[in-house]
Amino acid sequence: MNEYLPGLEGVPATKSNISDLDGKRGVLTYRGYRIKDLAEYSSFEETAMLLLDGRLPTREELAEFDRQIRSNRRVKYNIREIMKYLPATGHPMEMLQASIASLAMFYPGDECLTGSEVCEDLDYVHNMSVKILARMATLVAMWQHIRNGYDPIEPRDDLTYAENLLYMFNGRDPDPLLARIMDACLILHAEHTINASTFAALVAGSTLASPYLVIAAAVGTLAGPLHGGANQRVVEMLREIGSPDRAEAWLEDKLAKKAKIWGMGHREYKVKDPRATILQNMMLELMRERGGEMGPLFETALKLEELCEARLGPKGVYPNVDFYSGILYSAMGIPEDQFTSIFAVARCAGWLAHWREQLKDNRIFRPTQVYTGESERDYIPIGQR
Ligand code: COA
Repeated sequence: MNEYLPGLEGVPATKSNISDLDGKRGVLTYRGYRIKDLAEYSSFEETAMLLLDGRLPTREELAEFDRQIRSNRRVKYNIREIMKYLPATGHPMEMLQASIASLAMFYPGDECLTGSEVCEDLDYVHNMSVKILARMATLVAMWQHIRNGYDPIEPRDDLTYAENLLYMFNGRDPDPLLARIMDACLILHAEHTINASTFAALVAGSTLASPYLVIAAAVGTLAGPLHGGANQRVVEMLREIGSPDRAEAWLEDKLAKKAKIWGMGHREYKVKDPRATILQNMMLELMRERGGEMGPLFETALKLEELCEARLGPKGVYPNVDFYSGILYSAMGIPEDQFTSIFAVARCAGWLAHWREQLKDNRIFRPTQVYTGESERDYIPIGQR
């Protein structure tokens, strides 16, 4: 096959049994379980196990996994020292990529990856997955304090993953409703078939690179605004619009300039992303709990969605996961430039599941290209050019 398809649209890059989506019906499943049910009834810890191991755990298995995650949350103090020297103005995703990559040096042990029996060593794969997943949240929250000149808040092992994440951000015992919403957000972002960052993880994993570097590759790929970075852009865009009554003129101006509307559109979904609907409903729940006040961001988003449906709906462009997630994170007190980092913390579960699946039947990714350059020719010495 020599046909070049830009963006590899429609080209299967792997075989996977981790998640599936139906872009016409707007259905997403992890290991066959509907995302809506997981967001309502599961926990991030249980969903991570489902993704990694392929089945829902028993009560005992979940308790053991949870214990392992809780006891691996701390990172060596040298990581804190590294962070102190990073520019405070750096983007949290840049910090996260640098920090996760540096963990490979502090926690080595990937010798078995270079052996021929790598796929058999499930203990190694499991232990690495636990360590990385447990520490992602710690790194993200540490940066919030270090960049402001403070020592980070130590993780607590008496809290769930979502509770501890919120606690490490603001140092207060987490509000139960906010913790439940954060948990559901982590579940909703945990996995999404072969998207750009997961593909990057697969490519890095296929070279038998250390899992920390695999996740670093994925973090860098998630950062871009066409992928995970869109959630930050959405809130910036809504602030720029300012209020629902200004949305129509703003949208017409952007569409006339052929600009992208952040949080809209998806390669696979031609209807509204099911995760966007769940996030929107959670936002409504939070607003009701807080006395019914919607706030300008949410009101503007609702109006923009309505306008976009008329203008972009015929092209199959509808809200994606990033359209409402940032508004929700804002309402939970997460700073705007940390939205994508929270996405990365969650998606780490899916990246690790794909890394594990890749190792089971590994072959290095080495695609081909359609060469469009000069044909073979003689070198011209510099004096004759
Ligand atoms: N705003 C305006 N128009 C959009 C759009 C958006 N966000 N997303 C897609 N479209 C339009 C394109 O302009 C194009 O129209 P045309 O056929 O008239 O030229 C058509 O829909 C197809 O878009 P295309 O960019 O080819 O789709 P893609 O599959 O290559 O890209 C995204 C998918 C997600 C990168 C794209 O929709 C996008 O940039 N969205 C905004 C960024 C974002 O929210 N990313 C998060 C994804 S979860």
